[in-house]
Amino acid sequence: MCGIVGIIGTEPVAMRLYEALKRLEYRGYDSAGIAFLEEGRFKRLRAAGKLNNLLARIQETPSQATIGIGHTRWATHGAPTEENAHPHIAGSVAIVHNGIIENFQVLKAQLEEAGVTVKSDTDTEIVAHLIDQRLKAGEAPQEAVRSVLKMLEGAFAFVIMFEGEDDLLIAARRGSPLAIGHGDGEMFLGSDAIALAPFTSRVTYLEDGDMAVVRRDRLDVFDEAGRQVVRPLSFTQASALLVDKGGHRHFMAKEIAEQPDVIGHTLAEYVNFHEGRVTLPDMPVDLSAIDRITITACGTAHYAGMVAKYWIERLARLPVEVDVASEFRYREAPLKEGGLSLVISQSGETADTLAALRYCKEKGQVVAAVVNVPESTIARESDVILRTYAGPEIGVASTKAFTCQLAVLAAFAIHLARMRGCMDADEEKRLVKTLSEVPRLVVTALKQDAHIDTVAQKIAHARDILYLGRGINYPIALEGALKLKEISYIHAEGYAAGELKHGPIALIDENVPVVVIAPRDKLFDKTVSNMQEVAARGARIVLITDEEGARAHGAEAFETIAVPAADPFVSPILYAIPVQLLAYHAAVFLGTDVDQPRNLAKSVTVE
Ligand code: G6P
Repeated sequence: MCGIVGIIGTEPVAMRLYEALKRLEYRGYDSAGIAFLEEGRFKRLRAAGKLNNLLARIQETPSQATIGIGHTRWATHGAPTEENAHPHIAGSVAIVHNGIIENFQVLKAQLEEAGVTVKSDTDTEIVAHLIDQRLKAGEAPQEAVRSVLKMLEGAFAFVIMFEGEDDLLIAARRGSPLAIGHGDGEMFLGSDAIALAPFTSRVTYLEDGDMAVVRRDRLDVFDEAGRQVVRPLSFTQASALLVDKGGHRHFMAKEIAEQPDVIGHTLAEYVNFHEGRVTLPDMPVDLSAIDRITITACGTAHYAGMVAKYWIERLARLPVEVDVASEFRYREAPLKEGGLSLVISQSGETADTLAALRYCKEKGQVVAAVVNVPESTIARESDVILRTYAGPEIGVASTKAFTCQLAVLAAFAIHLARMRGCMDADEEKRLVKTLSEVPRLVVTALKQDAHIDTVAQKIAHARDILYLGRGINYPIALEGALKLKEISYIHAEGYAAGELKHGPIALIDENVPVVVIAPRDKLFDKTVSNMQEVAARGARIVLITDEEGARAHGAEAFETIAVPAADPFVSPILYAIPVQLLAYHAAVFLGTDVDQPRNLAKSVTVE
């Protein structure tokens, strides 16, 4: 995840770009840069390290330029050097970018074959070259950007500036956020409204697939199909709050939508996409010598731990014990000195998880924490922090923190497997490639939003709803049920699909919808059999599967929700999306307080 800005105004732009970047520093700060147009020509200032280094460059380079773009980086492709810092320039194109271009290696090879010299290790520079080539071939900036966007795979946002075009910035988004602020004869672009708050509170949020042509006194937005569209203007509270709903009705909706971006950011911290390997911080424990891992957490974080058990046991051949922290802390579990314990917590303040951590430390365990708030007590008391980069999560029901926890845990499982000699470099490369596709696949999964809304409305009047899943998606069934009961107050339970006939099947009748989570993995047929068992008893099935699964078995379901086909390794991350949306829309339909459901708290600091 990186922060991007663009300003096309009437006052000198350099310090304004810096000011906007400063507010995006939470998105990354390993290097930064700006570019502006001075008498029609590009001028670029970049610096490795924190934004202060860039500030020094800006201060020693006075400029009256009024149009520019800026970037604060969280390295995904290539080390955080000045050379790799944005903006990237190719010919008459300067670009800042947030996100991952998955197919950049292929595009890079094509460019190099055509004689283009690529200077940095980034995926971004490739995009600049591609656009520049189109301009050289005679296309106008808008056409050039549109044709290049069609060539790109991945989840991203861009702001692009053109030499000789003093009244034009072009922006585009697919998966990563982008807001456009309206001033008086000025326009501002930023990764969020917080960046724009010093300049304006009138903001238009681009939607997925949009491309915006921005001039000082005019904004034209085009959707993915190239049709001109009008996106609403909203008034943001960002300056006062520092976090706002980003044009969404609820924080939960915003946080669900942010997932492609924050998962990408989190992965970028632990995965070197360029080299196809996982890079985790050193741990003061010999991972090849431990004989098990103990994972403790509460609520949604506990379900992330359950998914991790499947990953770690399968890939690293290491037994994993997962427990809810409130049970574990009093269970007097025997723990070997020098072993490894993992705690998972969004807030880093959950009292039971903290107590579990302290118990583990007392027993001489090394404790690693998957935690979203780096200043939290759990982060401070752990030996190793595996931070999730979900950003502030305001909605009480955890969404983006959960999928970011999964992203970290997937990388951790690969790392363990490599350290223990259970996985070769080729397999690591393959899985890293699969992980790099996740932000894009999440974008596609989110496109089911409107359909899931209609499904949610059809089942929202049920008194009870069952969620079934198998294998690595069993915890997603549990998470789906938890999400639903937390915010819609409908009674819901998650079951391992195979366990159904040992009791819960007695509950089934035509009034009990059953949500079946069934990616086409090696357990697909077994889950389908379980689905048929409940269908035969009159249950209304909501089948969540991929398109092929839907084609094969959709007819047996009352409703089908299709998730993009993907390697089963990443299916828990993808299948988390529809269950979040289902709960969200059911709650909105029923009119409950989505962000602050009754009786719950975001951070449970009491036992
Ligand atoms: C509360 C929240 C849940 C969360 C759980 C654990 O119950 O409502 O959404 O999963 O605490 O919180 P933590 O901050 O430790 O992840």
